[in-house]
Amino acid sequence: MKAVCPGSFDPVTMGHLDIYRRAASHFDEVIVLVTGNPKKPSGLFSVEERIDLIERVTQDIPNLRVDWWAGLLVDYTTKHGVNALVKGLRTALDYEYELPMAQMNRRLSGVDTFFLLTDEKYGYISSSLCKEVARYGGDVSGLLPDLVVDAVTAKYREALG
Ligand code: PNS
Repeated sequence: MKAVCPGSFDPVTMGHLDIYRRAASHFDEVIVLVTGNPKKPSGLFSVEERIDLIERVTQDIPNLRVDWWAGLLVDYTTKHGVNALVKGLRTALDYEYELPMAQMNRRLSGVDTFFLLTDEKYGYISSSLCKEVARYGGDVSGLLPDLVVDAVTAKYREALG
């Protein structure tokens, strides 16, 4: 069975990586789907850069590949014959945010969403929180994969001139 792990992943965190790995152990094939338009840059990293970072940190997961999509998620899943979405749940806030999307996606296309509880080590991590800490020079090692820490640090260094 094929599954998609969708998200903006700007950038990929250790929490995301843990969900990708666990999804890859349950499904035959996992597609990490970066949502966003490469022609309309938004966020810290472009869609191409996000894809590159994810590809580099998932090299050891043979049944995982990375793709991008700028439209409705269900149009991607229908087009590619994907029958499952996989998301991580950190808190009840995530649940409140994810529930209507999961129900809408199921209504639109019949695709089911499978939720994995985030590992307790990563329950408080988000891409935005890590970016904020890194932006002001805080230590995000261990929260982002090492090469992502370097990429974020380089981005902010670049931005500061
Ligand atoms: O990383 P995020 O921002 O929590 O990801 C949310 C995402 C990208 C999965 C969601 O916004 C999404 O599905 N976007 C694609 C557009 C779409 O299908 N919207 C309707 C969802 S019911």
